[in-house]
Amino acid sequence: MNGMTTAAVAAADDGVAGAALAGDGLHREYGRGGAAVRALRGVSVAFAPGTFTAVMGPSGSGKTTLLHCLAGMDRPTRGTVRWGGTEVSRLPERRLAELRRTRVGFVFQAFNLMPAMTVAQNVELPGRLAGARPERAQVLAALARVGLSGRERHRPGQLSGGQQQRVAIARALVARPDVVFADEPTGALDRATGHDILDLLRAGVDLDGRTCVMVTHDPVAAGYADRVLLLADGLLVDELVRPTAAQVGERLSRLGGGAR
Ligand SMILES: Nc1ncnc2c1ncn2[C@@H]1O[C@H](COP(=O)(O)OP(=O)(O)O)[C@@H](O)[C@H]1O
Ligand SMILES: [Mg+2]
Repeated sequence: MNGMTTAAVAAADDGVAGAALAGDGLHREYGRGGAAVRALRGVSVAFAPGTFTAVMGPSGSGKTTLLHCLAGMDRPTRGTVRWGGTEVSRLPERRLAELRRTRVGFVFQAFNLMPAMTVAQNVELPGRLAGARPERAQVLAALARVGLSGRERHRPGQLSGGQQQRVAIARALVARPDVVFADEPTGALDRATGHDILDLLRAGVDLDGRTCVMVTHDPVAAGYADRVLLLADGLLVDELVRPTAAQVGERLSRLGGGAR
């Protein structure tokens, strides 16, 4: 492999052309002039279909910004994002919103459920807002998939944290997206509950061929992924393929700044 880094080998194997998702030369700056923050400083990365990638790095390294740019929730200042063959970074907002609803799902650390709505209404909400309310049977199937059959009339406040995150996963999956993004999805959960959530994300990859990109600060959670991308200071600094939790922990501690 003569001097080729793990990152270079893995990137070559991914084949950007066949990728489910790819970012090329991504820059994201917040503000201008002397006060500008350079959250991403030229990140290129591709995700093969049916793979599970963990994104790690110190607090402020650009993990959330990268996820938001890849998910079409934020626009890079420079560079391109592609979902399959479609370049999304320059689509007009309406078209992007439409495509986002069917192609990608997003799971947040804080669940982001509407407390006054029932579980079923929460799962339906993104579709309803887009004028494409999902069929009742699809909602029930998505809830069954995450182990919440019979809970459709409950309010989020009547559920445990782990159950609320499962509602959020059902909401992310109901439109059967190709790619699911999760930003510290187990960050607000105890370890055992976190494992249930990670099992669900892993099953979506293994059974449905979905592509999953997950930010986490937990080396054990990263062990569910096929590879780990490491960000530092807005740059992709390393890529580990099927690392052990110990290898991830060791690499993170060398990056400094704490695991989050
Ligand atoms: N909306 C924003 N306005 C200004 N600066 C931001 C904004 N969002 C993030 N940043 C800054 O960009 C950098 C990267 O943030 P973020 O992507 O949230 O990092 P991480 O998720 O790795 O903790 C940080 O310095 C952060 O303060
Ligand atoms: Mg973050």
